[in-house]
Amino acid sequence: MNPPLLDVRDLSISFETEEGRLDAVIGSSFKLDPGKTLAIVGESGSGKSVTALALTRLLPEPPARFVSGEILWKGADVLKMTPRQLRKIRGGEIAYIFQEPSTSLNPVHTIRSQIAEAIRLHRPEVSDIDAEVVKWLDAVGIVNPAQRMRDYPHQLSGGMQQRAMIAMALSCQPDLLVADEPTTALDVTIQAQILDQLRELRERLGMAVILITHNFAIIRGLCDQVAVMFRGRIVEFGSSEEVLSRPQHPYTRALIDCIPKLGAGHKRLHTIDYAAIERAL
Ligand SMILES: Nc1ncnc2c1ncn2[C@@H]1O[C@H](COP(=O)(O)OP(=O)(O)OP(=O)(O)O)[C@@H](O)[C@H]1O
Ligand SMILES: [Mg+2]
Repeated sequence: MNPPLLDVRDLSISFETEEGRLDAVIGSSFKLDPGKTLAIVGESGSGKSVTALALTRLLPEPPARFVSGEILWKGADVLKMTPRQLRKIRGGEIAYIFQEPSTSLNPVHTIRSQIAEAIRLHRPEVSDIDAEVVKWLDAVGIVNPAQRMRDYPHQLSGGMQQRAMIAMALSCQPDLLVADEPTTALDVTIQAQILDQLRELRERLGMAVILITHNFAIIRGLCDQVAVMFRGRIVEFGSSEEVLSRPQHPYTRALIDCIPKLGAGHKRLHTIDYAAIERAL
């Protein structure tokens, strides 16, 4: 048996803040096999982004501190890697896309020059860089890519910027794409289009994906596994089928109850009843 691509064991991360120590991630464990998709779901502040950034040590240390645990990437502990090893992994092996394209796209450079730089850095063997840029813009559904690549980010719509960011991440051919709330800033139709495209590309490229979301409804059909985070802890981890059909934790049940039922119309708007969760814990 090959080791999993990613094996996070008993990970705890805290922050030193003015109000004292904040335990953002507490004893987190999960695994991901090559080519598989994991959803990390949970409310705001539950530790999803901190977990994602920790994978390549992108958290500012301090205030962040790794209290315990291991992050095994292809069998090697990220927490013991040298800065040089980490640079190789970031972008090249583990790529990120964020909710806000502005966190990845630089406003003063064209789309072409930004994707080209990523390719040069992580895939020095590529000789025709423009052709490669066009290929990835086309792959994410940007029409007329040879012309669009000469645009600056502000010349593209929000959805197109998001696609350009995905193209940049994919152009490095990562083994793992971490998508942190990639579509929540977009309208629902464009969200669905981009998620569809991600699904198709994941299958074609055979890469693993970690999809971070508030939205339980998009997991079905898109993710193999689900980790549910609640106040810094992974309270549930399993195949999405298992978790959706037999949720164990009261918070997961509450989340599932919030998924709008097909054909149910908009009569009832569910909200999460935290007091009921506390009572059930
Ligand atoms: N740089 C930081 N300094 C101090 N505290 C931080 C820092 N980054 C995150 N935190 C804290 O860690 C906790 C987890 O934050 P995290 O960003 O992982 O939440 P999240 O689950 O991604 O939430 P959201 O759904 O709103 O994005 C929060 O309490 C947050 O305030
Ligand atoms: Mg977050």
